[in-house]
Amino acid sequence: MTDLPYTTLPVPNDWDRAGLPGWAYSSPAQFALEREKLFLTHWQVAGHVADIPAPGSWLSFDMLGERAVIMRGQDGVVRAFHNLCRHRGARVVDGDKGQCKGAIVCPFHGWVYNLDGTLRGAARPSSFGDMDRSRFGLKPVELEIFHGFLFLRFAPGPQPSVAELLAPFAADFAAYGTDEALPVTVPGWSIDLPVNWKSVRDVDNEGYHVALAHPGLQELYGRTYRDLHLSDGLSFSVGWFGDAPGRGWSVRNYVKLAPDRPDLPPHLRKAWTYYGLFPNTVFAFTPESIQFYQDIPLTPGLTRLTGRLYRRPGEDRASRIARYLAYRIDRATSAEDQQLSIWSDESMKSAAFEGFHLSDLEYGLRRHHDGLRALMPVLRLSEAPPEAELARRNDELICQSESRG
Ligand code: FES
Ligand SMILES: [Fe+2]
Repeated sequence: MTDLPYTTLPVPNDWDRAGLPGWAYSSPAQFALEREKLFLTHWQVAGHVADIPAPGSWLSFDMLGERAVIMRGQDGVVRAFHNLCRHRGARVVDGDKGQCKGAIVCPFHGWVYNLDGTLRGAARPSSFGDMDRSRFGLKPVELEIFHGFLFLRFAPGPQPSVAELLAPFAADFAAYGTDEALPVTVPGWSIDLPVNWKSVRDVDNEGYHVALAHPGLQELYGRTYRDLHLSDGLSFSVGWFGDAPGRGWSVRNYVKLAPDRPDLPPHLRKAWTYYGLFPNTVFAFTPESIQFYQDIPLTPGLTRLTGRLYRRPGEDRASRIARYLAYRIDRATSAEDQQLSIWSDESMKSAAFEGFHLSDLEYGLRRHHDGLRALMPVLRLSEAPPEAELARRNDELICQSESRG
C-alpha cells in the first residue's frame, strides 16, 4: 500500500449510522438556512486563471440569487465583482464567459465600467444631476487564487483563507502543476438533476457503492480505492490503476495509454485522486487531466451538477487520447451517480423511510452531515420543526450550545 502524506481522522468504533433526517431534504426553510449558513458564506470554486487569459476576459458565477463576474483587468489583475449594475441592477455581463473590449457596457442603459470595476460614466450623465462617479463602481466580491483556481465567497464565513484551508493539499496541487492547467475545447458541463443537493453529496461522499454501481471505475481501480477523512471538511479519495489490464473498451485503452508520470510523488502516480472541500466541491485529478465539479443548489428539489475540465500544457497524442478515455469513463460514472442520487432522494419521501444505516465505508457522509449539523443544529431534530419556526429553532439551538460552552 502506498503511503499517503495526510493526517487523517479514524472512523470511530461506535457511531450514529443514521444520517440526516429525511425532512431536511425537502424543507424550504432548511434550504433558506443553507443558503445563508453554507453557500453564500463558504468558498466556491468558479474556474481557473487560464479561463480568463487576457484583459477583459471574464467568467460568471451564480449562486442562489447572488451572481459574480470574475474579470481580468487592463493591468492583468484578476478581480471579482457582483454582476449587478449600480444603476438598476442589470447583469453587466450575460452568459458563462466572454471577452469585453476595454470596458464593460451594461446592456440595459449603457453605463460603462472600466475593467477594474470603477464607473467610467453613465449614459447621458447630465440627466443624473450632480453625480459622484466614485460611489458607483461595481461592488467587489472576495476572491482568492489557489494554484491557479479561482475561489470566491459572497459573504464572510467560518472558513479561513483558501490557502490555509487547502494547505494539506498544496503539495499535491503543486505536483500536478494545476497553476499551469489549460482549458480543454469544451471546458464546462452542467446538468440539472431533480434532487436536493445533499442527495448528490450523499452518493459522492462514499466509495462503498463503487464495486457494484460503477463497473468502469471498479475495473480501473476498484481493488485499491479508498476514502480518507481529514479535518476542516476536507477529504481525499484515491484509486490506483495499472495492476490489471481492464476488459471494457475505455478502461482497457486508458490503462494502456495513460501517461507515466515519474515526476509525480508515488501516491499520485498511476492514480485517480479526488480532493473534497466542504460543503459542495471536488477536485479530480488523473495523470493527464485536471478538473473540478460541484453541486449548485437551485431549489430544495433541483440541483445543478457542474464542472470544468483542464489539460496539461504540451500534452502529447497518447495523453490527449487518454484524457478522452478518462472523460468517457467519468461520463458513464456520472450517469450512474445521477441515478443513485435520484433513488436516494426519493427514499426521503416515503413514510416507511427510517433513515440510513451507514457502513464504516460510508463515514464520509457522517463527516459531511456533522459539518452541516455544526452550522445548523436544527438538523439534529428527527421531526421537522414547523417551517415558519425553523430558523428561530436553529438560533435557539446555537444559543443553547454556546451557553453550554
Ligand atoms: S441597469 Fe445598467 S445601465 Fe441601467
Ligand atoms: Fe459514485
